[in-house]
Amino acid sequence: MLQINNLHVELEDEGKPILKGVTLTVPAGEVHAIMGPNGSGKSTTSYVLAGRDGYAVTEGTATLNGRNLLEMEPEARAAAGLFLAFQYPVEIPGVGNMTFLRTAVNAQRKSRGEPELTAGEFLKAIRAKAADLQIDAEMLKRPVNVGFSGGEKKRNEILQMAMLEPTMCILDETDSGLDVDAMRLVADGVNALRSPDRSFLVITHYQRLLDHIRPDVVHIMADGRIVKSGGPELAMEVEQNGYADILAEVADA
Ligand SMILES: Nc1ncnc2c1ncn2[C@@H]1O[C@H](COP(=O)(O)OP(=O)(O)OP(=O)(O)O)[C@@H](O)[C@H]1O
Ligand SMILES: [Mg+2]
Repeated sequence: MLQINNLHVELEDEGKPILKGVTLTVPAGEVHAIMGPNGSGKSTTSYVLAGRDGYAVTEGTATLNGRNLLEMEPEARAAAGLFLAFQYPVEIPGVGNMTFLRTAVNAQRKSRGEPELTAGEFLKAIRAKAADLQIDAEMLKRPVNVGFSGGEKKRNEILQMAMLEPTMCILDETDSGLDVDAMRLVADGVNALRSPDRSFLVITHYQRLLDHIRPDVVHIMADGRIVKSGGPELAMEVEQNGYADILAEVADA
């Protein structure tokens, strides 16, 4: 599924290195988590995979199902099945949530050679998914994320994910001020979509989120690299002792 090998990335403007050799494989059907101190490069990794401007890849590769992600336009990456839920969801004034989602869903269907959904078909699908996520019809009509509370934005992101049915979902949950219910919602959203041909990469600071999600593998990122990988017990260790022990252990090795 997702394969990142020795990825080096620097800021285009300043030439400042941010990622210093990230290597990571997420096989089909698995859920992996990335934890790590502030500023270690977690969000940057997700931005580079999604094709955000401003970052220069100086070395390494990233492929999704064998296709070179780094050479593709952001839209093509999305059409190939990549979905990124941002740490800070963007507001799009003037564009209704429903219109936005329908355009996105149909653009992807079109690029995959599938027929577009009619207005009726789309409405039926989104109503069912919105009900599952306890999103009211009013929120579907409002402009995308404008004036949404933090929790509502999260809910909306999970709705986007459920509608787009991506194969590789990257969620950046860092520092997003999720309350217990919103955290549960994100976890339920992920769990509901788990399937043998869909994978997740969940970036988080919260061991509690991982209690609900139960990742197959937990990776620790520090200073632009994955320094340690393990099972869910790694998240417990971070929760109890912080990062100091793990970083010291890696530095000694
Ligand atoms: N556009 C930018 N301009 C300047 N510095 C940047 C830019 N983008 C990233 N950085 C720097 O790159 C480093 C990694 O940032 P990144 O957002 O990936 O960290 P993170 O691991 O997601 O942290 P957090 O846990 O706080 O979300 C930080 O030191 C950050 O300041
Ligand atoms: Mg971040």
